[in-house]
Amino acid sequence: MKTLLLILKLLLLSATAVSAARPTPASRACRLIQSALPGKVFYPGKCRTETYLEDMAHFQTSSQENSTCSVQPSSAADLSRIIRIIGRDDIRSPFAVKSGGHATNQGFSSTTGVLISMASFTSVVYNQDAGTVSFGTGRSWDEIYTILEQDNVTVAGGRVPGVGVGLILGGGFSWIADQYGLGVDNVVSFDLVMPNGTFVTVSDTSYPEILFGLKGGLNNFGIVSSVTMYARPIGTVWGGVINYAPSAQISQAVADFSLHNTDHKAQLAAAYVQTGSGQAIWQLIFFYDGGFIPPVYQPFLDIPALESNVGVRAFSDLLATINVVSTNSGGLSNVIPIVQYTLPIIEEIQRQINITYQQAVNDNRSVIAVLLGVEPFLGAFNHETRSAYPHSPDRQVTPCNPWITFSDNADVDYFRALLRKMSNDIQAFAVEQGQSRWDDIHYPNYALNDTPLDLLYGSNVPQLKRIRRAVDPKNIMGLTGGYKF
Ligand SMILES: Cc1cc2nc3c(=O)[nH]c(=O)nc-3n(C[C@H](O)[C@H](O)[C@H](O)COP(=O)(O)OP(=O)(O)OC[C@H]3O[C@@H](n4cnc5c(N)ncnc54)[C@H](O)[C@@H]3O)c2cc1C
Ligand SMILES: *[C@@H]1O[C@H](CO)[C@@H](O)[C@H](O)[C@H]1NC(C)=O
Ligand SMILES: *[C@@H]1O[C@H](CO)[C@@H](O)[C@H](O)[C@H]1NC(C)=O
Ligand SMILES: *[C@@H]1O[C@H](CO)[C@@H](O)[C@H](O)[C@H]1NC(C)=O
Ligand SMILES: *[C@@H]1O[C@H](CO)[C@@H](O)[C@H](O)[C@H]1NC(C)=O
Ligand SMILES: *[C@@H]1O[C@H](CO)[C@@H](O)[C@H](O)[C@H]1NC(C)=O
Repeated sequence: MKTLLLILKLLLLSATAVSAARPTPASRACRLIQSALPGKVFYPGKCRTETYLEDMAHFQTSSQENSTCSVQPSSAADLSRIIRIIGRDDIRSPFAVKSGGHATNQGFSSTTGVLISMASFTSVVYNQDAGTVSFGTGRSWDEIYTILEQDNVTVAGGRVPGVGVGLILGGGFSWIADQYGLGVDNVVSFDLVMPNGTFVTVSDTSYPEILFGLKGGLNNFGIVSSVTMYARPIGTVWGGVINYAPSAQISQAVADFSLHNTDHKAQLAAAYVQTGSGQAIWQLIFFYDGGFIPPVYQPFLDIPALESNVGVRAFSDLLATINVVSTNSGGLSNVIPIVQYTLPIIEEIQRQINITYQQAVNDNRSVIAVLLGVEPFLGAFNHETRSAYPHSPDRQVTPCNPWITFSDNADVDYFRALLRKMSNDIQAFAVEQGQSRWDDIHYPNYALNDTPLDLLYGSNVPQLKRIRRAVDPKNIMGLTGGYKF
């Protein structure tokens, strides 16, 4: 027995030694891509290593991995050459596609193989006659809004600075969702490099099945170089951020807004955040699509604030007032499908966040903050188009967004389990209150990596698997991480 173990160990050791010397699929892919696209490939510790480090960076450091190389293509033709090399039968290298790097699951837009950064796809074009905007997938939404603002239009994208265009492939809850629907429901077409390298424009008329798949199916159908969306009018808005100490009044005001708001131009995102020394605050982001304070916000303005910067301003300035918490840390996000945030649910959320925070402290884990985004919407699903992400007007669940940030990425598995438990406990309460069901759809852009496909895509799963097999018979997109069909 001992001898056998020793032999096994020796075999393992020699296997590691050999694999360190022998080129891996990733290192071969990197070399081939470098000869195909000279100057566009970056390695760790080599010249222009800052570009490599930018390509590795993610909003949460726990999403990061060191890739063998990164590549910054600048055209669909470049993308086509890259995916053809990566997918070659004799290579099949692991890879990832990264736009804004805000995915909170490691492996979704990070890899130890080839990291494809979309950073060079930066064009933004407003087509006034068509009423559409086309933009490259290397932009963050706030940049796109700033460029479009001179024409008094916008698109239905992310709500805080820095979030990238990858959001549109998972759903897309914007500040104008109650007026115009989700991001996916505002898409006219996607420019797509298919897994076999063929470049197509995917629309309702050209490839309706792939369009359906891309509206929520993330990176399963190829690499999107550019998106065309409906242009929506925008002028001066009212809003900004107000911080409050927890109180019965603020809980009541948030619940009242969720239950009683009838103004589709008024949207609120409220985060309850508990941090060091047991402190908690409410951080509310207000948006109104108009240059005045709507009556529905008056109750909030009557409550004494810790800090406030609300006012009438340009839309891009509203985003700029949002100071996104904690960037240089690990962090995991999840989702709890909740219809409406009643007062008992809000109180339970506060209680569970405290329990969770105390648990991490008692377990001596590197917790920074336990938080949860209360995201009331009003008919955001009313504009539903055929999408992989199910969002029927008959079942308007909102993406309640629990989140934990931490300083030691070695704790990531601990915090994933803790976040899962807190999410389940809160959902159990919401189910009891009639505001959630265990089979409600989980928003893919917020969900933990081990969420079952059925909970993300519901009855669309068989069809998505069929489309995937037709578009990608060699399962080349299976070489990148994420939810897989
Ligand atoms: C601070 C913060 C704020 C957020 N705010 C919102 C919000 O207001 N509304 C909302 O709906 N969501 C929001 N989210 C969630 C957000 O939708 C997801 O994090 C989304 O993944 C961000 O897209 P990205 O391009 O930044 O991420 P990435 O990590 O770059 O990409 C996300 C996923 O899309 C895939 N992908 C990216 N680009 C391409 C491409 N060109 N072709 C094919 N696949 C691609 C990636 O492989 C990955 O699976 C927020 C997240 C954070 C961290
Ligand atoms: C990436 O490499 C750097 C430098 O070697 C190292 O400090 C860092 O921990 C690595 N990151 C990950 C996520 O492995
Ligand atoms: C945008 O709106 C402002 C205010 O109404 C107006 O002055 C300006 O001319 C508009 N710009 C364009 C390009 O339409
Ligand atoms: C958390 O719970 C403890 C124990 O019940 C309590 O003393 C503390 O005030 C609570 N903290 C918050 C922020 O609710
Ligand atoms: C808590 O964790 C730190 C860092 O891992 C360690 O140094 C310390 O000894 C731990 N304390 C206890 C009480 O376990
Ligand atoms: C790539 O796949 C698409 C969709 O199946 C197909 O139409 C196209 O001909 C394929 N291209 C090549 C080069 O095989």
